[in-house]
This record gives sequence, structure tokens and C-alpha cells, in this order.
Amino acid sequence: MCSSDLQVRLAVYPGSFDPVTNGHIDILEKTCKIFDKIIVAVVHNVSKQALFTLDERVTLIEESTKHLDNIEVECFSGLLANYLRTKDACAIIRGLRTVADFEYEMHMAMINKRLIPEVDTIFIMSDSRNIFVSSSIIKEAALLGGDVSELVPEVVRLKLETKRREMKQE
Ligand code: PNS
Repeated sequence: MCSSDLQVRLAVYPGSFDPVTNGHIDILEKTCKIFDKIIVAVVHNVSKQALFTLDERVTLIEESTKHLDNIEVECFSGLLANYLRTKDACAIIRGLRTVADFEYEMHMAMINKRLIPEVDTIFIMSDSRNIFVSSSIIKEAALLGGDVSELVPEVVRLKLETKRREMKQE
């Protein structure tokens, strides 16, 4: 049974969030008006080297979404489809910036549809001001001393600054 049958429209917004950016927040601000509840699901991917620990990523999202009252943050590992089943989710949320995102996102949506047919992927367009914002570009710019204050929440900017100082000392 899907949660829509209980009139609770629960969507999952999965991702690496290493770290969360203003692009992610933009997608959350839009989708939290559409669904009753959104779970931001931070992937625990042992084969991918992340800058921020899982706990750090969760805390940064929690602190950056305090103004939204129907958001929860969790971690998951393994198959997203299995995690969606445990949550009884109706939808997967993914942001789309440019056409360059589309092919990868379409393949992911198709495999997830095959694995869990009752859940659809909903794509939300990013605001044009966030179209070039990605976690990887922000990490590179910030760790090289670039000003990313307009691209990430303030808590993330501060944490990136701390990481930059730590890495300079190593
Ligand atoms: O922010 P990202 O790195 O683009 O997010 C990708 C993510 C975490 C959504 C995707 O890699 C994922 O769902 N991983 C879990 C493993 C899985 O279910 N793979 C099959 C679908 S691609």
C-alpha cells in the first residue's frame, strides 16, 4: 500500500548532499508545498569518497531546512528501492538543472521504476540562478579559497571554510 492511500503523500529526496547547496534547498522549498512530508535521504556509499561524513551531511541539511516544517533527514545504504519500500513512499524527488542532467536522471528513474513500479520519479526544475550549482563545483571552489556564500547556506559555507583550514594544515 502506498502512503497516498492514507492521504499522507510522502516523497523521498535521495542524494549524496556532499554538501547540501542552495540548489537542493530550492528543490526542497518547492516540493515541500506539494507533498505532506519529504524525507531527505542521504546515501551512505562506501565506494564513493565524500568530503563530509554522513553525520556532518545530515546535520548541515537539518540546520539548512529549519524554516521548512515537513522535512526529515535520514541516511540510507543499499538499494534506494528497498529504502522507499520501508518508508511507504509515493515519489522520488530529483532536481533537474540542464539537459546535461537528463540522461543520467532518466536512466535512474527507469531502473527505479523497474525495481519499484508503484513509485514515480518527480523532476523539479532548478531556479535559473542555481543552474550551475553542484556540490562538486562548490567543494572545488571553496577549498581553493573561492567565495561560495551565495551558493550554499551559511552553515555550509562555515563548514567548508573549516575543512579548507584543516586541509591546509595537513
Ligand atoms: O546526489 P547524487 O549522488 O546524484 O545521488 C545519487 C543517488 C544517491 C540518488 C543514487 O546513486 C542512488 O539512488 N543510490 C542508491 C543505490 C541504488 O539504488 N542504485 C540504483 C538506482 S541508480
